[in-house]
Amino acid sequence: MTTLLEVSGLTRRFGGLVAVNDLSFQINEGEIVGLIGPNGAGKTTVVNLVSGVIRPNAGTIRFAGADVTNQPSHRLASRGLVRTFQSTAVYRECTVRENAERGTFLQCYPGHLAAFLGTPHARAMHKAGRERAAELLAWLGLEHLADTKANALPYGHQKTLGIVIALAAQPRLILLDEPVAGLSAEETDHVRDTILRVRERGISVMVIDHNMRFIKGLCDRLFVSAQGCKIAEGTPEEVLANPQVIEAYLGKAYAVAERQ
Ligand SMILES: Nc1ncnc2c1ncn2[C@@H]1O[C@H](COP(=O)(O)OP(=O)(O)OP(=O)(O)O)[C@@H](O)[C@H]1O
Ligand SMILES: [Mg+2]
Repeated sequence: MTTLLEVSGLTRRFGGLVAVNDLSFQINEGEIVGLIGPNGAGKTTVVNLVSGVIRPNAGTIRFAGADVTNQPSHRLASRGLVRTFQSTAVYRECTVRENAERGTFLQCYPGHLAAFLGTPHARAMHKAGRERAAELLAWLGLEHLADTKANALPYGHQKTLGIVIALAAQPRLILLDEPVAGLSAEETDHVRDTILRVRERGISVMVIDHNMRFIKGLCDRLFVSAQGCKIAEGTPEEVLANPQVIEAYLGKAYAVAERQ
């Protein structure tokens, strides 16, 4: 298997708090990897670090064979590393189609001046973006919602739209922070199926969530973080049966998930 993302010794402090502590992990091409752990374990901070939103105090991040530590988000996006946000991050006043088209700009924006002047290059890029967005909406069965404003969509579809925006940038790896938080069981299954289809395209996925039924039905491999440190790693079956994981985290979360 080819390694796509390789994180070594990642550390991030906020004042006296070590939110991420000497964390190392890797994600292979075409893999779906889950990151789980209690509230405040540093999971979102890991995503913020890997996606270039914040910088690490120590450690290295390699993506597709290149050292990308300290690179800003837009440069990582153009390399194929794209994230979604824990809260729904859609352009609320725009239609579903416009949201998907905006996602394509993450990878190929012609520049403000070229866009303003409408140069042939800018027009060609817009056309390619429109076509890619239309193809994505059709592929995910969202065509019928293309002209609906994002803020009029049910919450579940808003979450899916966040994934569409990420996909529109033609990523090789997407990082999903709590894609099913607040969703019903049915909506959760829909998002899970969407992510499984994303992988069919050869795209790797790193996903954070507290819903263990969702994580179990989705991930090839999990790792668990507690107080910024990795405490376990393995297949979902191995990790979810690990006494240390149950004690640090799962006791409560697992019981809740099993009831759903
Ligand atoms: N920008 C920041 N400034 C100061 N402290 C921060 C900042 N971001 C995160 N933290 C702290 O770092 C720790 C890890 O936070 P993080 O949001 O990464 O946890 P999490 O595992 O995503 O939690 P949750 O499951 O609740 O989403 C927390 O103690 C949090 O308060
Ligand atoms: Mg978080």
